[in-house]
Amino acid sequence: MSFRVQPSPPARPNRCQLFGPGSRPAIFPKMAASDADVINLDLEDSVAPADKAEARANVIAATKEIDWGRKTLSVRINGLDTPYWYRDVVDLLEQCGERLDQIMIPKVGNAGDIYAVDALVTSVEAAMGRQKPIALEVIIETAAGIAHVEEIAAASPRLAAMSLGAADFAASMGMQTTGIGGTQENYYMARAGEKYWSDPWHWAQAAIVAACRTHGVLPVDGPFGDFSDEDGFRAQALRSATLGMVGKWAIHPSQVALANEVFTPSEAAVTEAREILAAMAEAERSGAGAAVYKGRLVDLASVRQAEVIVAQADLIAAG
Ligand code: COA
Ligand code: MG
Repeated sequence: MSFRVQPSPPARPNRCQLFGPGSRPAIFPKMAASDADVINLDLEDSVAPADKAEARANVIAATKEIDWGRKTLSVRINGLDTPYWYRDVVDLLEQCGERLDQIMIPKVGNAGDIYAVDALVTSVEAAMGRQKPIALEVIIETAAGIAHVEEIAAASPRLAAMSLGAADFAASMGMQTTGIGGTQENYYMARAGEKYWSDPWHWAQAAIVAACRTHGVLPVDGPFGDFSDEDGFRAQALRSATLGMVGKWAIHPSQVALANEVFTPSEAAVTEAREILAAMAEAERSGAGAAVYKGRLVDLASVRQAEVIVAQADLIAAG
């Protein structure tokens, strides 16, 4: 272990982040009634320029008038290259009250972007005498964002979560696709006339997970656009969970249960993890540092792996 111990991310469930346009307030109560752990009310790309002011007012009213239960309540502001974002931050912080938990910053490119929002948030928070500091979350969805992913993850103690935004990421990278995440027809290996599909999102996800785990931030997989493709969503989410991500966005209510299913450790996985911990406790009592569990080696690293699964299950059970 490095002298610097790896910090823990925020201890709250983040299996599913359900999005809805701020310009469509009729769906807000349905979002509140959903099983998503996190709600993202959007002021950015799902809201047309002419509707920005009205969407902002809708979102501010909704944070006060709707019972969001124990969900993490987040609002996605507009990008720092727009004329909207400063007003988003000021109005949200001045008018939402303490129920607003988090602000999502899209298209971050470097640590300076977080610094700018943090400075504005801190100033309004102090002026308003807010008791609970607003958390920040960001989307890595540009070439600059992924190139500077580690400095972004380290940029502010307010930073709670970081998502991969596949569509804007693909556009910024110049990728030849119009799909939002998932399998890409043209990304395959060929052998003996057979195609073996590969995963173009893998490296960006792994980079995000590493940056997040280094700095105590929750790594999250972003949207999967084809909401009629359950198998595709599940396959993408399972890969993300295997890589260390804690959850995924839902851009349609049908995706919430799928995300919750994948990012809740299965009973079988939790039972096996507990058995590994028990086998190692037994080994330690007899003075051994390693043991055999179901015909395979388990040692102290296995304990740490098993603890990840048990801790996640306990966190969700407590939430
Ligand atoms: N959250 C909660 N409920 C939602 C919802 C959402 N994001 N999107 C749709 N619903 C509701 C509908 O109101 C409808 O409810 P009803 O059965 O009571 O009538 C039901 O779910 C089925 O909706 P459906 O007709 O299949 O979808 P739609 O055509 O109304 O909307 C989208 C489809 C994709 C436009 C819509 O889901 C949406 O806006 N998603 C979020 C987009 C977004 O925020 N993008 C930014 C992040 S990438
Ligand atoms: Mg985007």
